[in-house]
Amino acid sequence: MKHFLEISQLSPETIENCIQRALYFKANKIFPSYPQHTLAHLFYENSTRTRVSFEMAAHHLSMPVIHLDLQHSSESKGEVMEDTLQTLAAMGVTHFVIRHKENGIQQALAEKCNDRMHIINAGDGTHAHPSQAMLDMVTIIEEKKDVSKLKIAIVGNIRHSRVANSLQCISKALNVGELVLIAPEIWQPETLHYGRVCNNLKEGLTDADVIICLRVQKERLNEHEHLDLKSYQQDFMINEDRLSDAKPNAMVMHPGPINRGVEISSEVADGQQSFILRQVENGVFTRMAILEALISP
Ligand code: CP
Repeated sequence: MKHFLEISQLSPETIENCIQRALYFKANKIFPSYPQHTLAHLFYENSTRTRVSFEMAAHHLSMPVIHLDLQHSSESKGEVMEDTLQTLAAMGVTHFVIRHKENGIQQALAEKCNDRMHIINAGDGTHAHPSQAMLDMVTIIEEKKDVSKLKIAIVGNIRHSRVANSLQCISKALNVGELVLIAPEIWQPETLHYGRVCNNLKEGLTDADVIICLRVQKERLNEHEHLDLKSYQQDFMINEDRLSDAKPNAMVMHPGPINRGVEISSEVADGQQSFILRQVENGVFTRMAILEALISP
């Protein structure tokens, strides 16, 4: 694997290998060392989980980590991103973890960069968040094993969600039994990669094995796309009552950050069926597997 840009560019075999490698790291806690490779973070959008998770993953693999403080970098003097990357690469940085609000920017950079550079998409606009989808699948497979027998329901603002896009692609690659995307009409996807869309929460959740809640993502909404939060909460928030429509042992997941009382109640977020912190834990092992796959031929 040369770059890690979006799930649809990976073969099912590559995805399976990454998932199994992440589960191996978690089970065995035997970590290889790659001190000759250096990782740099370039986060043009805020992050808690993804940034720290990649950093932890690099530390476990004995890879040095460089934080580029973008407010004080030479981009403020007019340097373009491509030149920033080439400059860091000349100093020995090999892995670039990039988050940006513009769709496709990591792809564009990957097409221009040299052979020794690996670009990792840590989220681009509304387009893709492939490492999140990968860690979500690690968490589901760890718990439920065979995804071809599962019904997975994603609930919330699907239209603006890069996580939902990547989850559709990974569900397609791994042949998930049933994928339902539940959203009010205004937040339904314009493009569908896999699964079906529905606007009835009860119908969508019935017999679900996994429920993935999404944030409303207010910062990405256009003027005409706003919805009254009270009415959203009434019709789509996952609370204990709604959870009872799914299978009794259904997993509740959320990529985070969560907005308690909007898309998920605190009782459910902190309840026995919640896997939210397990997702965060698995994120480190998953990102180790991704970083290693970029090093190995
Ligand atoms: N899930 C996720 O991308 O979280 P952060 O924005 O905190 O990285």
